[in-house]
Amino acid sequence: MAILTINGLEKTFKHGSTEEKILKGIDLDLPEGEITALVGASGSGKSTLLTIVAGLQKSTKGEIFFADENLTSLNSNQVRNIRAKRFGFVFQQAHLVPFLTVQEQLGLMLDTAELKWSKEERRQEIKAILKKVDMWHHRDTYPDSLSGGEKQRVAIARAVIHQPEILFADEPTASLDSKRSKEVMELLTSLSKEFRITVLMVTHDESALKYADYTIEMKDGLIE
Ligand SMILES: Nc1ncnc2c1ncn2[C@@H]1O[C@H](COP(=O)(O)OP(=O)(O)OP(=O)(O)O)[C@@H](O)[C@H]1O
Ligand SMILES: [Mg+2]
Repeated sequence: MAILTINGLEKTFKHGSTEEKILKGIDLDLPEGEITALVGASGSGKSTLLTIVAGLQKSTKGEIFFADENLTSLNSNQVRNIRAKRFGFVFQQAHLVPFLTVQEQLGLMLDTAELKWSKEERRQEIKAILKKVDMWHHRDTYPDSLSGGEKQRVAIARAVIHQPEILFADEPTASLDSKRSKEVMELLTSLSKEFRITVLMVTHDESALKYADYTIEMKDGLIE
């Protein structure tokens, strides 16, 4: 079953007086609980599609249905609310907050998602996820002292601590070597399967594709 359905999605950017249509009528179903990889040439509109679907920018035309919501008909507060509570994000860089320890990064995410968890529940969940990504021993460490792969593991823990329904990942392994990429992909896959999180992942990394249940390609503003 599809957790997210996109119908006729278009995006046009204005460059001065000229307009460029980057997305030209995308139709897509994201199967629930599965990992879908989005590939395509640089500039083909992958990040644009991902950020629109994730509610980070608006489309020019078309509709996006997520679970029981028509995302395109919601106001910006309602979209922000869904984004904070029901979506998770991982990018090429970990984007950790420099002045927070590893476990504080996750606490901040829980505050943003406004989950009604007790202090004890928060502590338990943070501990469980940090153990899962093998970063519990670094719980009181600041990002400065972590390697690239370790930072990305914290970013993944932070992206799923609030138990989102969909995880959006834009080139999550692009800044890592092949060994760390493999670790990150194995982690994403096991989290997706264990917690039944749907994943939409943009990637240029051939080796990441074998972890995907489906691969779709963007070409000339359309999905092949
Ligand atoms: N805010 C914006 N304003 C104007 N043009 C934009 C904007 N965002 C993206 N574009 C243009 O849209 C096109 C698609 O960009 P996008 O970032 O979606 O590509 P991509 O497929 O993710 O590429 P890459 O693989 O290099 O990350 C590019 O030509 C880009 O210049
Ligand atoms: Mg991109």
